[in-house]
Order: sequence, then structure tokens, then C-alpha cells
Amino acid sequence: MVYGSIFNIIRGNPFNLEVLVDSWPDYQTVITRPQKQPMMDDKDHYTNTYHIFSKDFQKLPAILECDSVINWKQSLTIEGCQNGLNEKIQDVVAFKSVKVDYSKRFLYMTEDVFKFIASNASKLMKSNEVASLENVTFKRTNNNFKLSLLDVSHAEFVNNNWKYRQNEKSLRFIKRCLQNFPGFYLLDPEGNPIAWTIMEHTNEVRMGYTLPEYQGRRITQWMGINCMQYLKETNMPFYCQVESMNESAHRLMKSLGFQLLDSGWHEWKCVPVEF
Ligand SMILES: CC(C)(COP(=O)(O)OP(=O)(O)OC[C@H]1O[C@@H](n2cnc3c(N)ncnc32)[C@H](O)[C@@H]1OP(=O)(O)O)[C@@H](O)C(=O)NCCC(=O)NCCS
Repeated sequence: MVYGSIFNIIRGNPFNLEVLVDSWPDYQTVITRPQKQPMMDDKDHYTNTYHIFSKDFQKLPAILECDSVINWKQSLTIEGCQNGLNEKIQDVVAFKSVKVDYSKRFLYMTEDVFKFIASNASKLMKSNEVASLENVTFKRTNNNFKLSLLDVSHAEFVNNNWKYRQNEKSLRFIKRCLQNFPGFYLLDPEGNPIAWTIMEHTNEVRMGYTLPEYQGRRITQWMGINCMQYLKETNMPFYCQVESMNESAHRLMKSLGFQLLDSGWHEWKCVPVEF
């Protein structure tokens, strides 16, 4: 997440993020967060988002408890991809007047992206057989299905089908993503959108959705292969996360050649008790 944020910061910084380190040049902890100006709404935890990576968990609580690092007076989201972060964050939050909602999900990345950003391949777990454009066909093949890039006008229907969000603030977030990062959708022969997915400011590909009547026909798999090809051609690293019980999404990830990383995907939604 931190890598993805910095990847986009050095490419124009469309989300106006900034980077904090514990020391320089030998830093152990990196936090990315929005600059002050975009964090004006104390209740917008979509915008008030912090991404954390640390090699020194001992010192992490002392860093996180500083109000100059994290503005604990706001509703906010902290995200990271390291086991052990939860204990440290809970230690900090225990002394704050903040209600925390923690979720852990499965983290998926393709091997070439993983090799690109890290050298420790031992963390990879075994993948299943990988689908390719040659061996995947729609169960009901129809050459009229067309893959296109989403634009901001599609934000409403992405938001309406995003399981956890569906409010004005999430709509604003989706619009910002669509204005700055690629999103993909598949059109049926009549030109109606039937499946889509978008990328957000840490290069996570998320909010994937396929209309129920089209699920289980490998249409999403076909769309995924094409999206991945596009991202590789444009040199954009990417990753995905899936909830533990979402069996079809896990199958989809594995069929697309994604590897499961044992570090997991972690998120803490924090709301001051007075809200
Ligand atoms: C997750 C989702 C996008 C999968 O789309 P889909 O169209 O069903 O996926 P596909 O038909 O392309 O299938 C991909 C793989 O998943 C398998 N699969 C599909 N539905 C399945 C189900 N209900 N149970 C188990 N496996 C399933 C397919 O068999 C295929 O694997 P295979 O090639 O090994 O047979 C779709 O179910 C969806 O939109 N769900 C609601 C929103 C959501 O959960 N989004 C994902 C957020 S991470």
C-alpha cells in the first residue's frame, strides 16, 4: 500500500498525499497520508486514510500515538499489509477515545509484481493453475461483449454496488479514483455494463462486481485477464484483497494467477467516541 501510494506520488500525486518517515535517510517506518488541506472533513474516513509500513514494530506505537502523525480527532482509516500491526495499533488506540473496527482480509498479488517490489519470495504461497487469454472462453461465448475503460460518469453504479460504502463520501472517493486511475467495465451486446472493477490510490484493484445473472460464467475471469494485461503494458503494479468467506472471488484470483501472501490485508476504521 505504501509502495503503491509512493508510486503515484512520484507520478503527479493526484490524491495530494505526503510521506512521513521516522528518520532520514535510514528510515524504518513509512506512513503515507493526505496533505492537511484534503483532510478537512473530520468525518470522511475515505479521505482521512493512512498507509503504514514498518520494519521496527517496537518503536511503532510511540510514532502512531503522536497527534502530529495521526489526527485521532477525526474519523479515519489505517491500512497496512503486515501481520503484527494489529497488536501495535490496538496498543495505541487503548489510550485514545476512539472506537476501532478491525478487518483482516486475504492479500493477492501476481508473482511478477511481487518480484518487482520485493525479494523475499518465501512469503508466497502456492498458486493454482493460471488462466490465459488462449485457454479462457466465456461459457456462453458472445463476441459482442466489449471491454472498455470506465470514466467518472460511471461512479454512481460502481458506488451503488460497493458492498461496504454506498454513500455520498464513498461516491466522492470513487469519482476521484476514476478521474486518476484506470477502471474497467464489460458491456453486453446492448451496451449495458455487466461487470466492472476500479483501481484506487495505492494501486489496489477493488470494488469488482459482476451482475448476478452473469456470475459463474467466467466472464469476470476474461475481464480480469484483459485488465491485467492493460496494467502490465502500462507498467502499473497492482494487488487485490478478498474477504475470507468470498469463495468465488478467491477462485477468481487463483484462476488469474494471483498468489496469496501470508502477510494479509489489514484495515482499522477509527471513529472518535464523540462522533
Ligand atoms: C466475485 C465475482 C466478481 C466473481 O465473478 P464470477 O463472474 O462469478 O467469476 P467467473 O465466472 O469469472 O469465475 C472465476 C472462477 O471462480 C469460480 N466461481 C465463480 N462463482 C463461484 C462460486 N459461486 N463458488 C465457487 N467458485 C466460483 C469459477 O468456477 C472460476 O473458477 P474456475 O475457472 O477454476 O472454474 C462475483 O461473484 C461478484 O461480483 N460478487 C459480488 C461482489 C464481490 O464479491 N466482489 C469481489 C470483491 S473482492
